[in-house]
Amino acid sequence: MPGTSVDFRGRFHVSPPFGWINDPNGFSWYKSEYHLFFQYHPFDSIWGPMHWGHAVSTDLVHWKHLPVALSPTEPYDADGCFSGSAVEKDDFHALIYTGHVDPNPRDASRRREVQCLALGDGIRYTKFSANPVIGPDLLPEDASLADFRDPKVWKEGDDWLCLCASRRKSGEGQLLLFQSLDLERWCLRGTILRGGAWLDGVWECPDYYRMGGRDVLMLSLADASSGQLGKHKSHTAIWSTGRLDREACTFVPERLRELDFGPDFYAPQTVATPDGRRVMIAWMQAWGRSIPTHDLGQGWAGRMTIPREVELVDGNLVQRPVRELERYREGLASGELAFDGLARPTGLGGQILDLEFTLETAGAETVGIKFFVGAEEETLLSWRPDRGELALDRSRGGLPIVALAQGKPDCCPYRAKVETPEGKLFLRVVLDRSSIEVFAGRGEVAMSATVYPRDSSEGIVFFSEGGKARIRFEAWTIL
Ligand code: FRU
Repeated sequence: MPGTSVDFRGRFHVSPPFGWINDPNGFSWYKSEYHLFFQYHPFDSIWGPMHWGHAVSTDLVHWKHLPVALSPTEPYDADGCFSGSAVEKDDFHALIYTGHVDPNPRDASRRREVQCLALGDGIRYTKFSANPVIGPDLLPEDASLADFRDPKVWKEGDDWLCLCASRRKSGEGQLLLFQSLDLERWCLRGTILRGGAWLDGVWECPDYYRMGGRDVLMLSLADASSGQLGKHKSHTAIWSTGRLDREACTFVPERLRELDFGPDFYAPQTVATPDGRRVMIAWMQAWGRSIPTHDLGQGWAGRMTIPREVELVDGNLVQRPVRELERYREGLASGELAFDGLARPTGLGGQILDLEFTLETAGAETVGIKFFVGAEEETLLSWRPDRGELALDRSRGGLPIVALAQGKPDCCPYRAKVETPEGKLFLRVVLDRSSIEVFAGRGEVAMSATVYPRDSSEGIVFFSEGGKARIRFEAWTIL
């Protein structure tokens, strides 16, 4: 197995120079740059007192790290500056985040979460002197003081609106809507949505935006076990189209689905780009699993997904890597072949790859592709046309990834339903040294996973089982 010196870092995915990262925070466009903050523990590659790390980019592909923007220094955020969002106000970059105080991590009843404000110029940020701006006094009777976090702030007319994840004292998740004229004084508008058996778990990191005449809500669910999503992952993120009724203060969901069917996708946030796109980024990791870069003592853990454009197409939220990535494609390899069994096209390989291909069965029961193929490892993506199912299996992908609660290898494969009315499946797969992101069809299905192969495992092999298949592909490396 690879040792500590093997470099698993991706070429175009945000990861920490040193330390641990989780959720993206404050994804925003300010002073002609994209700003991405993130939950950051600068002193170790495990979760710890949360800071806001900070990176900027002009193309969403190459990022420059800036100094830490927020540190847990005040009584109201002493144990962490938790997730939140960023907006522009009066030329300032305003960060709205959760102050987390946890005097005894074994006793959640003593935990307190409040919402706070910091203003800055895009590099340095100063916390507002009258923080917190949304404290326990504004919470409804039924809300726990311990789980109240991850403010999403946006502007409508003269009003600022803020959506926060909350938990009822009885345990269900709920979303609270607040309103303000100045980001400093807020009032509670109401509870727009409540969980329960239909959508359980701890609700975290809401995002909200309007798109194609609809309201779109995104939400992350921790320890979700039942409801519409089935019991296959302990953490996941969903999208829902619906209607946010500002008068009645309710969100009525219409269609609700998982955002990504792979193991590593959590806490997504979106930004509106100056040219009118909606771009989403998420933490490409999940809670409760071992992270090989930490286990090897490499000093860093966690990364973001590639930023993805999201759109509503026929009522579905579809996603694809930001178009800026295509500017960095280099060295086209392409081909078309019919085969039975294995096909290893010449010129196709590598661990940093943007690959577009169409799979078609000509009798085969299963058609697929293997990535990061080496003597002892491979990551499998396979399609069963008869079941309309796509499966991603990283169980033999490289270094083991352990589900910590169970103390055993992470379950595999991860499956998603795909519709292929014409009997062909179009796929785009982006590899970046130790990650794989799959986009199927028009992007209705995405699957993201980290995987830790040896640096020599560069093979790409198409395969068919039970008959013949046809493929067409185009692939580039990304510089
Ligand atoms: C989601 C989350 C947030 C919280 C942050 C703490 O991954 O649990 O709810 O703000 O991480 O790091």
